Amino acid sequence: MNDWTDRAATLADELIAAGKLHYPEWVAAVRAIPRHELVPVFYEQDPVTGDWLTRDATDPAWHDRIYSNRALFTKIGEATGSWGRAVVGLSSTSTPGLMTRMLEALDVHDGHDVLEIGTGTGYNAALLAHRLGDTHVFSVDIDGDLVELARHRLGGIGYRPIVVAADGARGLPEHAPYHRVIATCSVSAIPRAWLEQTRIGGLILADVKLSVHAGNLVLLRRHADRVEGRFDRNWAGFMSLRREVARAASPVDAGEPVARDRHEAVLRTTDVDTLRPWDNLVAWFLAQLTVPTEIGYRHTLDEQTGRPADVLLTTADGSWCEISDRTDDGFREVREAGPTPLWRAVENAHQLWQQLGQPGWDRFGLTATTDRQWVWLDAPDSDHTWPLDPPPTL
Ligand SMILES: C[S@@+](CC[C@H](N)C(=O)[O-])C[C@H]1O[C@@H](n2cnc3c(N)ncnc32)[C@H](O)[C@@H]1O
Repeated sequence: MNDWTDRAATLADELIAAGKLHYPEWVAAVRAIPRHELVPVFYEQDPVTGDWLTRDATDPAWHDRIYSNRALFTKIGEATGSWGRAVVGLSSTSTPGLMTRMLEALDVHDGHDVLEIGTGTGYNAALLAHRLGDTHVFSVDIDGDLVELARHRLGGIGYRPIVVAADGARGLPEHAPYHRVIATCSVSAIPRAWLEQTRIGGLILADVKLSVHAGNLVLLRRHADRVEGRFDRNWAGFMSLRREVARAASPVDAGEPVARDRHEAVLRTTDVDTLRPWDNLVAWFLAQLTVPTEIGYRHTLDEQTGRPADVLLTTADGSWCEISDRTDDGFREVREAGPTPLWRAVENAHQLWQQLGQPGWDRFGLTATTDRQWVWLDAPDSDHTWPLDPPPTL
């Protein structure tokens, strides 16, 4: 691709115009990194057949895609879930706009050492290495093949940050402490290692997600005894830190679907019309905060429109609920069974969200010590706090 510098410059302009890129150091980095060298191939799923299609960056038809503000799947592979065994995206490169937004929020300065969790293609590591220099950038990915490729491709374009195949939940103790830790995969709580490996005064930027869509980016400052900070005003999402998926016994991520005996279910109606997590992400987060285990979410597809229809929520304790997409005078049918009344939790969360004055993400924050973690509204010691129980693996 011989005109990549023009394309990278256009991408930078696009991100500036979209309000996702402001500072000259990061503008220079976006202009300088040949993204196609780090993403020589990407994958797209055919919306009709579901088949995965391979796109080759050397094909001029895909040049624009590589230098656009889009996330691209960069590794696919077989995985087992409620859908059975299927090919799914295993790694992706996030939208450049999300990366620049996060890098700017990270407030890095010359001489800072930064640990990135989730190397993927190495694009983010390249931006960091351009800004700070190779010796200040450390990046880990659990996928050894990706690490090899990223290291090789980064070297090919003149960058040599430290890239290591390791479980990011453990951080990278051999090069700690860091001024900044940035995670480009999501966690259900802040791993203790990140807290311990961040310098006092340093920052951690991570995507905390308790289940699919239930959480957001949070920027935490390290104090002597804790890390603390607020969620980002705008929602964003990453794929889960991989060992956490194995932990989750919900139909969204792993394991067998919960067996449902419809005769067992209580049948009732609901007037909550925000059925899907993304209809009200904050209320969905509140619902998940009050349910002790991860809520799995699935929906059927409307045969005519192809849009999401009936919703199914499940938890590992065997609880489930089905909510009908069809309304009758504004009410929908709910079938609910098992020890955890899941739709009741969603209804209560919507009610609470209204009572609290419809708070946006940035009224919520998180505090993590080595012993406990909690989400709060407005202040760490407010009347509204919710415990976060880190899984034993973190
Ligand atoms: C969204 S991608 C990262 C994108 C990357 N920053 C880039 O610039 O292309 C998420 C990455 O997290 C990695 N990952 C998943 N679980 C991990 C873990 N436990 N430790 C480290 N990396 C992990 C995945 O292999 C995947 O490459």
